[in-house]
Amino acid sequence: MSNFKQIRIRLLLSNLLVFAIVLTGFAVAVRFVFVRNLRQQLTNQLVTLGLGAAAGAELEDGEIELETNFSEGALEEQDQTLQVFDVQGRLLEQRGEPMRTLRFSPTLTVQVQTQARSVQAVTLPVFDNEDEQLIGYIRVSQSLEELNETINELDWGFGFGAFVGLLLYAIGGSWLNRQVMQPIEESYERLKQFTADASHELRSPLMAVSTNAEVALTYAQGMRATDEEKFRAIASAANQMSQLTEDLLLLARTGQVADFEYQTIDLTALLVDLVRLYQPQAEAKEIELKLEARNHLELVGDEAKLIRAFTNLIQNALQYTLPGGKVEIIGVALNREIQVTVADTGIGIASEDLNKVFERLWRGDSSRSYAQGGSGLGLAIAQAIIRQHGGGITVTSQVGIGSCFQVCLPASS
Ligand SMILES: Nc1ncnc2c1ncn2[C@@H]1O[C@H](COP(=O)(O)OP(=O)(O)OP(=O)(O)O)[C@@H](O)[C@H]1O
Ligand SMILES: [Mg+2]
Repeated sequence: MSNFKQIRIRLLLSNLLVFAIVLTGFAVAVRFVFVRNLRQQLTNQLVTLGLGAAAGAELEDGEIELETNFSEGALEEQDQTLQVFDVQGRLLEQRGEPMRTLRFSPTLTVQVQTQARSVQAVTLPVFDNEDEQLIGYIRVSQSLEELNETINELDWGFGFGAFVGLLLYAIGGSWLNRQVMQPIEESYERLKQFTADASHELRSPLMAVSTNAEVALTYAQGMRATDEEKFRAIASAANQMSQLTEDLLLLARTGQVADFEYQTIDLTALLVDLVRLYQPQAEAKEIELKLEARNHLELVGDEAKLIRAFTNLIQNALQYTLPGGKVEIIGVALNREIQVTVADTGIGIASEDLNKVFERLWRGDSSRSYAQGGSGLGLAIAQAIIRQHGGGITVTSQVGIGSCFQVCLPASS
């Protein structure tokens, strides 16, 4: 079930990420258009003002005279400055808000960011009323303070809006996710229950087949040789199927804690026994199998299940290692954790398959030629058991060099 919770959280987070990207894109686009419009409006305003001033300008005794319908007060109120320059760009007159140095340039629009404050300015040429000759320039400028404040407010608005939007989306999204996931979770549960029931029901008939075949084989003398062969095949197939149903049952049931019988376990002794059990098989395959327990390993767990998990790892290591190879099991107790690594010098696992090995029923292509009859459930079972104990299992491997499975289990305190 925790698996589904993880999926739900991941789904929600990726939804939120997408929504955040959409919101940001939207805000950036709106801000861009809005700011452009504001700037354009300001420019238009300044141009109108400048044109008004230039229209009434006259050259008198070599000096430019403006019509004086521009009150200083109105200019100052708007944070505006009106300046008159001669043809050479020398400042002749200045009205309105006092203005610090802003280099003169006869181009139409300038926007200058002085250190103290930012200003937008429009420079217009002034022509004489009568002979249409250029007599100077008028520059109208306005502080951008107000505009920047508006933009700032807009930014805050967007920020707050995005926050509220994301919050609402998180609430709505998790509700939606739950609606969507619930039927899936339920059908998964039903499927699990079905697997458990089916494998449970298969146990007795399979047992009957294999015991009957074995009983028949105890009186093999009276049989024809071909019949004996068939009975052996039946017994072996029945055994394999029993094993498979047991595996399926175990996988379907993990997560139901009632299934586990917890007790204090001497893991060192458990591993020693296992290695002793598999030594003949290793020797037959000319593989060096050794165990190194660096300190006493003790934990609380289900002994039968742990034997099952480590058996799978050791069997794999022996199965997927060629003669002459080495399988080494090392157990260490760190302060709150027990680490057991099962390392082999076998065929290895391709890096693209590493995350598949724990999947149910997955088998590597090459493994089919090294070990017949496997179901691909071994590692899935080992992982389920280790997780049930509050631990984890990881794998590193290199093709042709070997694999290393590392099991971490919480130590008993
Ligand atoms: N030590 C190993 N070295 C190389 N490949 C491995 C090793 N352990 C597992 N694998 C690969 O991972 C696959 C899955 O392993 P798993 O134990 O789940 O299934 P299996 O060994 O094929 O069958 P089963 O264990 O159910 O009899 C194997 O088929 C094999 O390809
Ligand atoms: Mg296996």
